[in-house]
Amino acid sequence: MGLWSCQTGQAINGDGVYRYEQPSQDGIGKIYLGREISQVMGYEGAYWLERPSRELQEHPQLVVDLLGLAPDAVVADLGAGSGYMTQRLARAVPDGKVLAVDVQPEMIELLNQRITEEALTSIEPVLGTEADPHLPDASIDLALMVDAYHEFKYPHEMMTHLWDALKPGGQVVLAEYRAENPLVMIKRLHKMSEKQVKRELQAVGFEWVKTDESLPQQHLLFFAKPMATAPQSS
Ligand SMILES: C[S@@+](CC[C@H](N)C(=O)[O-])C[C@H]1O[C@@H](n2cnc3c(N)ncnc32)[C@H](O)[C@@H]1O
Repeated sequence: MGLWSCQTGQAINGDGVYRYEQPSQDGIGKIYLGREISQVMGYEGAYWLERPSRELQEHPQLVVDLLGLAPDAVVADLGAGSGYMTQRLARAVPDGKVLAVDVQPEMIELLNQRITEEALTSIEPVLGTEADPHLPDASIDLALMVDAYHEFKYPHEMMTHLWDALKPGGQVVLAEYRAENPLVMIKRLHKMSEKQVKRELQAVGFEWVKTDESLPQQHLLFFAKPMATAPQSS
């Protein structure tokens, strides 16, 4: 896989953007732009994603409303898990489609169960790899990552592939717990600061659009792929 930096136009050896050190608790010891990547939440914890208190903590329907999706939009839910956000996205795009990507086959199985039980025919589950979401080129209007990006083992490669999968002008939106606030009681590596998210998304060429702070404990960060761009990968 050949990866390119939009900023320098240089080929990047994926591993060259990472550093390694002794893993801290909940971390994998792999450092990207100053941040240690967290361990992946295993499928055994899927019940936690469905906990009723999430409504109060994360306001999931407000997240979807803030995206301003057109009814026929094509959306990617990256790190979809059991589909807690995916189902809401599907209802927001009745004439569109949601590509729900996860790396754990067990999460894809939970998604499939949900699709059957709730007749959510506009959701397409996609089994990705740790470095590649397996999305078709220039096919996506908006990609959402809720509580997921901080655990991507290859964030640089994932975002580079996402760049290719987005239509020109397409948007990337991350919901991450606020690292700036010590009162947000979430494990350290499961939180991200606005500054760090911007650093990482801008490193692959995405342009910051806005940060919405209306959620109780998370930032909602919006980025865009510019309308006219060179391809990121080949
Ligand atoms: C904490 S869960 C959040 C799930 C969902 N977004 C939600 O809000 O309920 C993070 C999910 O990201 C998935 N994940 C981790 N690395 C990934 C990658 N490189 N590509 C796709 N999914 C990934 C994990 O398997 C897990 O299901």
